[in-house]
Amino acid sequence: DIERKVDSVLALMQLNEKIGQLVQYSGKWDATGPSSSNGDQHKLNKLKNGEVGSMLNVSSVASIRETQKIVMEHSRLKIPLIFAYDVIHGYKTIFPIPLGESASWDLDIIEQSAAIAAKESAASGLNWTFAPMLDVSRDARWGRVMEGAGEDTYLATEIGVARINGFQGNDLSDPYTIAACAKHFAGYGFAEAGRDYNTMSIGDHELHNSILPPFMAAAEAGVATFMNSFNDIDGIPATGHKVLQRDLLKEKWGWNGFVVSDWGSIGEMIAHGYAKDKKHAAEIALNAGSDMDMESYAYEAALESLIKEKKVSIKHLDDAVRRVLRIKFQLGLFDDPYKYCNEEREQNEVYTPEHLAIARDVAKKSIVLLKNENKLLPLSKNLKSIAVIGPLADDKNTPLGNWRGKGEYNTAVSLLEGVKQAVDENTKVYFEKGVALTIPTVKPGENQFLHPLKFNNEDRSGIEEAVEVAKKSDVVILAIGEDAYQTGEGRSQVDIGFSGLQLELLDAIKKVNNNIVIVLMNGRPLDLSYPSEVVPAILECWHLGSESGNAIADVVFGDYNPSGKLPMSFPHNVGQEPLYYNQKNTGRPYSPKHVTYSGYTDAPKAALYPFGFGLSYTEFTYSDLTLDKTEMPIDGEITVSVTLSNSGDREGVEVAQLYIRDLVGSLVRPIRELKGFKKLSLKPGESKKVTFKINAETLKFYTANKKWEVEPGEFNVWIGGSSLADLKGSFSVVN
Ligand code: IFM
Repeated sequence: DIERKVDSVLALMQLNEKIGQLVQYSGKWDATGPSSSNGDQHKLNKLKNGEVGSMLNVSSVASIRETQKIVMEHSRLKIPLIFAYDVIHGYKTIFPIPLGESASWDLDIIEQSAAIAAKESAASGLNWTFAPMLDVSRDARWGRVMEGAGEDTYLATEIGVARINGFQGNDLSDPYTIAACAKHFAGYGFAEAGRDYNTMSIGDHELHNSILPPFMAAAEAGVATFMNSFNDIDGIPATGHKVLQRDLLKEKWGWNGFVVSDWGSIGEMIAHGYAKDKKHAAEIALNAGSDMDMESYAYEAALESLIKEKKVSIKHLDDAVRRVLRIKFQLGLFDDPYKYCNEEREQNEVYTPEHLAIARDVAKKSIVLLKNENKLLPLSKNLKSIAVIGPLADDKNTPLGNWRGKGEYNTAVSLLEGVKQAVDENTKVYFEKGVALTIPTVKPGENQFLHPLKFNNEDRSGIEEAVEVAKKSDVVILAIGEDAYQTGEGRSQVDIGFSGLQLELLDAIKKVNNNIVIVLMNGRPLDLSYPSEVVPAILECWHLGSESGNAIADVVFGDYNPSGKLPMSFPHNVGQEPLYYNQKNTGRPYSPKHVTYSGYTDAPKAALYPFGFGLSYTEFTYSDLTLDKTEMPIDGEITVSVTLSNSGDREGVEVAQLYIRDLVGSLVRPIRELKGFKKLSLKPGESKKVTFKINAETLKFYTANKKWEVEPGEFNVWIGGSSLADLKGSFSVVN
């Protein structure tokens, strides 16, 4: 039925109107890329002529209604605009940054947080988010690691689909859901040296095995849109990549949504040295399958003549327009262009106490306990005194993270507030900032189109006061890490240590009090080599969103037993980056006797805190790994199980992880790969059998034949609580 409607609209459209549907402008309220020189008057004229298909960065019911009205009142065909915004980890109720939320390994709450973000966005007039980011990212230097699900392809796939389901529900026309966007297609997360927008040049096999699976799953899950990426892949900019967009995504995978370019990425093919001018860029992009032009002004400038010159076919143009119209129909915008414009909903359904309660739940489940010597944690709520120290201790802004939607400045619950709220009234809570949070930068102030940053600050005067309160307290909670805007787009760093005087503050405190709990707030894996040596307890708390301080207090005082597991490896040294657990073995994996092996002479090869790692206040043990058979026919199934026991003295939640190694392949296979996980709650003394099924779906990979298939041979399997799981079995796959 929708296809018929799409065709009937298409049949009415003139060339300029078709091209218009492929144009997306940013509103004047925000800019999430370099601003263009095209002014508001130009945009207004185009809107009136029906020559714009979509707006991004227009938000609030009033602004969206006003913009939609221009099209409805002036344009010939009155084709509604679709309104997009970067709703990345919440709209106004802010959830943990996606990397942090991924540490929950909890697909239900991840779906739920996306659903709330969709509900709040839809209540504010929006109908499309540029999320989830599905880029697998293995390099902590890359600022955008905060926006994805980390280094593992399987985990990123599962989480990506949960987010898409949360945003879209099972019916795009439902006024509480919005269209999602699988981004960035493809390879953006593999930017060389972790430098944003940089080139990447991996081969076709690695592309298929490591990067594309989350996108394949997104297409299969019915994600409404894709966004392409800024980088080139082995010489071809993703925006102009026909094999990826037209041949693979649209033809082979049979996906029928539309592809939006990233901000200006069509025009940026000129800077890449792949297009000679805007017209050439438009020709390459449309022919390659980029349907909508975000802020390049290339399609509006050149498509008409390209069609006339037959450099772009009407068939390709119509296909792109059809895709855009299809999503607009699915959203119900043709039935009612103001469908999402309801002031009452905006008033009542955004930033509600119910949403904040869920944000707290998600946040506490995203915290990872990295170290807990002598069971320093959880703290008692009736200690005599606690010192809450550090540049992030009373910070109500940083926990909102980057890409925080409409999250308002200084609205997060700070750690200090959370602690004060949690402890008994007789506990004395001291606070000292100690030092300011500073941001390492080469060029203060220039490339920040979003928010002002704080630059180097060498003021040591607060350290003494911090030492004084540390001296008289039973325990110190030290909040250090990164500013919200140290990660995110354009925020790559060569140093992933602690900026400014943060470690100096730690050293000074350590001299007077050893009971230090470090609360980390950060958007990327940090180099924890020094702190992890000198303090007894570390909690990884990311940028946890609106309810940050309450969620941290839930864990610090034991109301919630931490259950998070790292979605990215934490290195000993930045020089190990890119660092990921599912490496290949190399021909010289390791030898304690020889120097000529693949490692470093000045740092370990392994991670300091590996992928999948995270402690609990209780102890979990794994035993009795059993396979129901040791030979699996290629189309058969094997069941592998273990006994998981809670051998500690508290109830706790564990994420049991299944890893596989394919010992010999037509291509070199990783030393292990995550292939399943289960989250289970166990009472003290309780044991549960955890079972995984292994079949062709689990074992297939993109082989030397350039096909997804299983190769017969030997496999190892491990189940445990991290990527270092040592309980092992083996089996073979036979033809
Ligand atoms: O959605 C983003 C994208 O991820 C990076 N460039 C800007 C886009 C729109 O804001």
